[in-house]
Amino acid sequence: MPRFDDTFLEELRLRSDIEQIISAYVPLKRRGRNLVGLCPFHNEKTPSFTVYPDDANPHFHCFGCGAGGDVITFIRRIENLDYVEAVRFLCERCGMTLPQDGVDTSLAERRQRVYEMNKEAARFFHDTLLSPNGRAGLAYYKNARGFSDRTITRFGLGYAPDAWTALRDHLRALGYSYEEQYAANLVGRREKIVNGEKQFRYYDSFRGRVIVPIIDVRGRVVAFGARVLDDSKPKYINTADTPVYKKSLGVFGLNLAKTTKEKNLILVEGYMDAISLHQAGFDNVIACLGTALTGEMARLLMRYTEEVLLSYDADEAGQKATQRAIEVFASVGAKVRVVKLSGGKDPDEILRNYGPERFRSLLGGASNDIEFALQKAKDGLLLDTPDGKLRYLNAAADILSRLSNGIAVDLYASQLSETLGVDKSAVLARIRDLRRRRQRTQEKQKMQAITQDYLRETSRRSIRTGSGTRALKAQERIVALLYANPDFMSLAGASLTAQDFTDPALQALYLRICELIGQNSSLDFSRFADLGDEEMSRLVALCGQETMQTGSKKEFTDCINVLKTQASERENVNAAALDGDDFRALFQKKS
Ligand code: UTP
Ligand code: MN
Repeated sequence: MPRFDDTFLEELRLRSDIEQIISAYVPLKRRGRNLVGLCPFHNEKTPSFTVYPDDANPHFHCFGCGAGGDVITFIRRIENLDYVEAVRFLCERCGMTLPQDGVDTSLAERRQRVYEMNKEAARFFHDTLLSPNGRAGLAYYKNARGFSDRTITRFGLGYAPDAWTALRDHLRALGYSYEEQYAANLVGRREKIVNGEKQFRYYDSFRGRVIVPIIDVRGRVVAFGARVLDDSKPKYINTADTPVYKKSLGVFGLNLAKTTKEKNLILVEGYMDAISLHQAGFDNVIACLGTALTGEMARLLMRYTEEVLLSYDADEAGQKATQRAIEVFASVGAKVRVVKLSGGKDPDEILRNYGPERFRSLLGGASNDIEFALQKAKDGLLLDTPDGKLRYLNAAADILSRLSNGIAVDLYASQLSETLGVDKSAVLARIRDLRRRRQRTQEKQKMQAITQDYLRETSRRSIRTGSGTRALKAQERIVALLYANPDFMSLAGASLTAQDFTDPALQALYLRICELIGQNSSLDFSRFADLGDEEMSRLVALCGQETMQTGSKKEFTDCINVLKTQASERENVNAAALDGDDFRALFQKKS
């Protein structure tokens, strides 16, 4: 049996959501954090087949027949496939490519080499930090960051000497080729031409920076973070994607935080913040390395915790990132609360300015996403002025009017009435009002969508049946006949109105004809010249010498009847401009 390497399988399992996959075969009901259903592998009347999607190793187990395993096992059994076929099946489902035999083993070996190389590099950086060459780095950690010896050892912190080939030569001496080092992102390279031949010059990626090894859940060094000692740019350099590391899924501190007794994980922006917090006794802190939090990342974190406390920086960028993170976590159904920082721009500063107790108390006040939204609505408003109060009330009522949980609405309304010194009933009335208004708008939009569909359908139908063209023809003939026979006007009487003309140009011509007839003026083209090019050319086309027909009174009244029938049909559907109530009335009238 070919062996797939661990990183590949890990990723496959991560991308193959066990709940989603099993649900496609077995109707499942949620029971707490798990799901239950009738076992597909034996006959049973009461469900004993259980899926554990939130487990660190998501799996299924049947208490009736004992069947159990991970998502690959499930597919293997239910699709009656062998192991490799099941892996291929899942691969195709989530768009991954199946590693080929042979290529597979060499990839596994290459990854293994990267892990070992990373470990050697981490050791080299750490040893350098504690050597005379690392004095600047050690001073930075101790003085600028306040890290203890124990913290430095615990996190394996290091220093990259300010030299071009120190690590490169060290790893080369240990038997790692430059290409291998390049694949691990530990060295960069530059092309050069020697005797007309292309060659590469390799140099250390990290120089003159303090080093933070990024260690994965299983304790392997997968990447590095590196910070300058001064204010130069870029402040941080982090390992890019390598065969063992995907930056968007990079987490710092999960290897330590996974054993915390806390029910939640605290997510901070920077790994330096994370280290400070661990040193201060918060053992459930992690930091993400990808720039934008993704759903994949959120799902990964939810394997290790029930809830995430977001503790991003207090600056604008941090607040934006918080907003985004709330949405991402919500989209994967994760519980999240926001820690509002005060007394410093990030956790690290708060610890240094006020100590751990301050941060702990901030954690205690961590607000959920509703409170975060309310807090944000308050930003920049002067709550001691009537205007500020009113604005906040409106913004807050708008947020609360979107909640479906009545008890929550009531609780926040109480809070709000206290904060603003406004009667609670007034707050609730405002919320109800906004909710009703939103419902009405939504209803109206729905109705309008329905009418628009209907109108589109009838106009399509009328083009098919030719009734649209018939109406147009009738309008054209009426204009032409009136132009030629002004006395026909008396036949139209009160029954024909300008609204019966759906063609704007013909409508304008009709109105002008009425006007001229009413004034007993003669009808000639010059009287229409001010109308517009479109009108003028239509008039000439209809009533010019070539087309001029006298026509009969019978034809004229027939045309009017055609227009009248069309108009009443139109009235039935021309409700797009009506509001919900009128629209319903229209339907009631019909039935
Ligand atoms: P911050 O600049 O907020 O980190 O960036 P920090 O820990 O507060 O910085 P100092 O050391 O106290 O001044 C947060 C994270 O964003 C990434 C890093 O992963 C960092 O941990 N980052 C930041 C970069 O990748 N590159 C940068 O230039 C800056
Ligand atoms: Mn920061």
